[in-house]
Amino acid sequence: MAEYTLKEIIMQRKRIIAGNFKMNKTASEAVEYAKAFLPLVKGIDDVEIVLCPPSTCLQPMSVVLEGSAVGLGAQNLYWKDSGAFTGEISAPMLLDAGCGYVIIGHSERRAYFGETDQTVNEKVKAALGHGLTPIICVGEVLEERESGETEAVVDRQVRGGLAGLSSDQVASLVIAYEPVWAIGTGKTATPQMAQEVHHFIRGIVAADFGAEAAAAVRIQYGGSMKADNVAELISQPDIDGGLVGGACLTPDGFATLITNGRP
Ligand code: PGA
Repeated sequence: MAEYTLKEIIMQRKRIIAGNFKMNKTASEAVEYAKAFLPLVKGIDDVEIVLCPPSTCLQPMSVVLEGSAVGLGAQNLYWKDSGAFTGEISAPMLLDAGCGYVIIGHSERRAYFGETDQTVNEKVKAALGHGLTPIICVGEVLEERESGETEAVVDRQVRGGLAGLSSDQVASLVIAYEPVWAIGTGKTATPQMAQEVHHFIRGIVAADFGAEAAAAVRIQYGGSMKADNVAELISQPDIDGGLVGGACLTPDGFATLITNGRP
């Protein structure tokens, strides 16, 4: 990276919008989705597009997406490659199913499935070790925002998730700032509120991993992002894309959101 100036690295930072299907769609529904979605986003090369369906959909969807510019991501992984870990899926399995990305530490996994900053860190290392791009989710709950703890919480989650990584690894991954109170609630953070936290996160990356990694790392916003608010959010200087739940579930709706989020 050293041959580029910071300004050049920032210029090269490509927007990335990922659709998180959560626990929605069967494999056949996801295949139909992908078939309908591809023609709608054909030719879009200024936004990296990723679809993250349930794990049963990954392999069949990868067949449809093959040769397109649309990437495929999982919603979770386990950090061991194989073994007696009933119910878990490893990085080599995700690669084999056609994945290039994996969401790690989503707030729903932290809230319902006991994920901690330590397990997130193990998963991030496993993903990077196998060449998967992690999308690491961080964000405060309403109580924490209201008691002025947003920065402390985000600081702990970002530092915990990135612990022990190299600057080059951090430069290559994606962080998703998702205020938990905005997820699935229709309450979006204002662009200014989101920008403030994104700027704060980039500052943590700069302090721990250097200015180049901070200039390169992409930080998505997530939490009720929609076709009609994406442009305002994504035009903030430190917002590089979105992690979209509800608004990604129809091909038309998600394609419109992505189109509205182009530079
Ligand atoms: P939402 O979900 O867009 O439905 O708010 C975002 C997310 O949880 O990733």
